[in-house]
Amino acid sequence: MCGIIAYIGSRYCKDIIISGLKRLEYRGYDSAGIAVISSDGVHDKNSNGCRIIAAKQAGKIKDLEESIRDMDFDSTIGIGHTRWATHGAPTQINAHPHLDCSGKIAVVHNGIIENYAELKDELIRKGHKFVSETDTEVLPHLLEEYYEGDMLLAMQKLLKRIKGSGAIVVLNSDSPDEIIAARIASPLIIGIGKDGNFLASDMPAVLEHTRNFIIVNDFETIRLKKDGVEIFGGDGRLIQRESFKVNWSITSAEKSGYEDFMLKEIFEQPFGIKETMRGRLTGSELQFDELNMSEDQIRKLSKIQIIACGTSSHAALLGKQLIERWARIPVEVEVSSEYRYKNPIVEENCLFIAITQSGETIDTLAAIREAKSKGAKIVAITNVVGSTVARESDSVIYTHAGPEIGVCATKTFTAQIIVMYLLALYFGKVTGKIDAQRYLKIVEELEFIPNKIQLILNEAAKIKKIADHLYKYRTFLFLGRIFGLPVALEGALKLKEISYIHAEGYAGGEMKHGPIALTDTNTTVVGIIPKDFVYDKMLSNIEEVKARHATIFVIASEGDTEIHKYSNYAFYVPSSIEELYGILTIIPLQLFSYYIAKNLGRNVDQPRNLAKSVTVE
Ligand code: F6R
Repeated sequence: MCGIIAYIGSRYCKDIIISGLKRLEYRGYDSAGIAVISSDGVHDKNSNGCRIIAAKQAGKIKDLEESIRDMDFDSTIGIGHTRWATHGAPTQINAHPHLDCSGKIAVVHNGIIENYAELKDELIRKGHKFVSETDTEVLPHLLEEYYEGDMLLAMQKLLKRIKGSGAIVVLNSDSPDEIIAARIASPLIIGIGKDGNFLASDMPAVLEHTRNFIIVNDFETIRLKKDGVEIFGGDGRLIQRESFKVNWSITSAEKSGYEDFMLKEIFEQPFGIKETMRGRLTGSELQFDELNMSEDQIRKLSKIQIIACGTSSHAALLGKQLIERWARIPVEVEVSSEYRYKNPIVEENCLFIAITQSGETIDTLAAIREAKSKGAKIVAITNVVGSTVARESDSVIYTHAGPEIGVCATKTFTAQIIVMYLLALYFGKVTGKIDAQRYLKIVEELEFIPNKIQLILNEAAKIKKIADHLYKYRTFLFLGRIFGLPVALEGALKLKEISYIHAEGYAGGEMKHGPIALTDTNTTVVGIIPKDFVYDKMLSNIEEVKARHATIFVIASEGDTEIHKYSNYAFYVPSSIEELYGILTIIPLQLFSYYIAKNLGRNVDQPRNLAKSVTVE
């Protein structure tokens, strides 16, 4: 939530900041702002001739860009922010940067200051004037209090006073050759460029300028200069840390001719899946060195606990089905936000897996910390190298879907699912619980998955046609069983988050226990009914809703000549083995949600009220 960018170097910073903010807009998009240090050349004993110039705007980055088009922002040092409101409405006054009373200190912040009310009272008593309703505004005023000639020292004092989370970046017109920053629990990276250096909430924001990065850790403070960076630990000591290079390309962070990031990312799935399988599945051999677990440790596992939020939790639910089926190890899945507050039981020989595409979801992070404090060994599955979850886990399995910009998770979901398939198979093989012939069959089929997904994508126009017929319905029920259930839940989540239509996912057999009461002529039921071992059961469930006059859209498998008798609309995925329908059947549903939302004129990349990475509770 909220995106930050800062630049200091030899180039003018305005365009760098605006374009970085556009790449960060998925993190928050209700208001934005920029501040630079400008020199008016008038030096006297009270001034070095430098001052802060700031502009803020409610709305999108393009509104900010428009509002400053003719303003003089000629400067080589600046900061920018795109906001997702937590404290205070998304207005111009509440947008960042926030300034101190003197107007010399400008701050952008991503996070929440939990004790801001108490700090604000204290600062007001000292005579500070506040203009916004935000928690962030206490930061520039606190820095003003603590500043005695070195902003880094003021920042270190400030970190001792605040409770909560934050990536904080500060400009100080008294020091026009440095940017000061700090991090507590919100992501912050340093980009090392040829003609200047950067700070940002994530890498795609500055990928067009550099691929060399340094990750900032919690409680560290940063002094960023145009030709170098100093990192200080929580104890104030200078830390040496090498930069690392990422192989993400800038086109992977651009739309490349697609109308929206979401559509581009849906179409990138065959590639993301191949990349995620690469090196792990070779011929029929599976390799999971990154697990850091001996075969003996795997055989001793008595339970696996998976925690995740939203779409990632649906990948976890599919993983549960697969691991229990192939490796016969019991799996529990819980949403992170519940796990952390329930005084969880961490058993010996239980493996703890956290799934999070961003690696920054605060609830998942907190759940990991809770489990770790009770002795759990943590394996993270994430798409972002160097993310907080990756760093705090004992081992990391990276998905290689490339950066996902659309708020709605698509390609990272199928990459997570592929990891679940591979991991479940690997556990099955190590524990000896999977039949050798079956193992070979699954492995063989997995190799075909990227091509089969491509075949589905080639038929996107068919799904669009169905969406064109169904977009006016106001209630959608997604039904699936076993491998189809996580797909039903994910299909419903996709539809509701980008189209704002009421959609629910249910286990087919649950309909009779309540939800069937919703069914009437205004309802569309989406059935996930490939030819698997619950096919007949799903047909009965569909009969039940058909009898209540619902419109029926089914995702079936190729060669099913019966299904049209049960449905008004059908889309056929290539045939496969039953477990693998889990990944094939979600693709048409992602496209379906996309086209429904487009028919309704929604902004699919930035749906209302949502942000890409949820770094607040
Ligand atoms: C839905 C979506 C969210 C995320 C959830 C967890 O499309 O994107 O439901 O899946 O916020 O995010 P991560 O995986 O980054 O922990």
